Amino acid sequence: MAPSLDDLLSTGVRGRTVLVRSDLNVPLDSSGDAPRVTDDGRLRASLPVLRKLTGAGASVIVMAHLGRPKGTPDERYSLKPAVARLAELADFPVGLAADTTGDNAGELAAALAGGSVLVLENVRFDPRETSKDDGERQAFAAELAALTGDNGAYVDDAFGAVHRKHASVYDIASLLPSYQGDLVKTEVEVLQRLTGTPVAPFVVVLGGSKVSDKLAVIENLLGTADRILVGGGMVFTFLAAQGHSVGASLLEEDQLDVVKGYLQRAEQAGTEFVLPTDIVVAAKFSADAAHETVPADGIEGSSFGADGLGLDIGPESGAAFAASIATAGTVFWNGPMGVFEFEAFAGGTKAVAQALTEATSRGALTVVGGGDSAAAVRSLGFTDNQFGHISTGGGASLEYLEGKELPGLTALGQ
Ligand code: 3PG
Ligand code: MG
Repeated sequence: MAPSLDDLLSTGVRGRTVLVRSDLNVPLDSSGDAPRVTDDGRLRASLPVLRKLTGAGASVIVMAHLGRPKGTPDERYSLKPAVARLAELADFPVGLAADTTGDNAGELAAALAGGSVLVLENVRFDPRETSKDDGERQAFAAELAALTGDNGAYVDDAFGAVHRKHASVYDIASLLPSYQGDLVKTEVEVLQRLTGTPVAPFVVVLGGSKVSDKLAVIENLLGTADRILVGGGMVFTFLAAQGHSVGASLLEEDQLDVVKGYLQRAEQAGTEFVLPTDIVVAAKFSADAAHETVPADGIEGSSFGADGLGLDIGPESGAAFAASIATAGTVFWNGPMGVFEFEAFAGGTKAVAQALTEATSRGALTVVGGGDSAAAVRSLGFTDNQFGHISTGGGASLEYLEGKELPGLTALGQ
């Protein structure tokens, strides 16, 4: 078991500087004058650990990334909007350095008062953060560790990034006494319930655009999940694998054989795939596109013919998915059922979200995995407490369920 944050607190942190890796990678709307955080879920989820540490008198330095800048400072990926929102939510002082391990970070870190938080600028502004070269990452990690002065410590609270072998997630743990933050601990405990012996029936709902992102998790869930409900853009590769035409809908032809293999193996593995029976087909990809609901095996029969674009599962499928979820003991959901950002194509995602909230009320364990799905349920007006657990990590929770080794957890000795 990795040492916990409480273990660190029991050693005393007053007068010490603690380096915390947080996941502040929030979606931004950059269309206005100043970029605005559109979903602050990850900021809220990062607060408890920062509150505990500052409350105990530590000087806290936060390392975080935003987006995928190319290893050089880029204003579009600045942590400024995220940190401004974090500061609004926090009841302790929060500042942002102008650089990551440069002069400004060094000066602010040296002067940092107990009970205060200093966030470093985006760690991915330095190419060594994500380098494949162990030596480069170690050198960057050493600069980060040096910011803590003597007697520093490291806390990993960035669940969303534990699947990354990056300097601020992985290498840093070999340089400072390291502890697992409460968010990582909670996330791992919930996922352990899914990979252990989940209360049956175990229903998995998968959506999102790319089937290739979900192959490994499907592979690992065949035989473990009782039912896998498939929607979102990835469903068209399933429908095509069954021999149906899908018009202009998203299709990953190179995955057709793999998907056919899953469909063939499912029955013997004891897993049932539940596919939609109707699809909302649109003339084009836009919020106001003309659209019709047609049978899933007749997508090209809509008035848009072979140009028709499937953008959501239909109402009959939404109801069937809800009925399937209604009997579940455990539900894991990753990926929206359709283009929920457009009202006309949000029905499937709403139906699944609503069914999860009802399953939660009757005592089933419901887990929503991933930044996109979490943002989806919040933007559709659902609240976090209507679900058993909303994971802050999409890729990380999928890789955990895939049974992969997660570098950030390995580094903590877990
Ligand atoms: C996420 O958004 O899933 C995490 O913050 C990790 O980001 P990444 O996929 O760019 O590593
Ligand atoms: Mg992501």
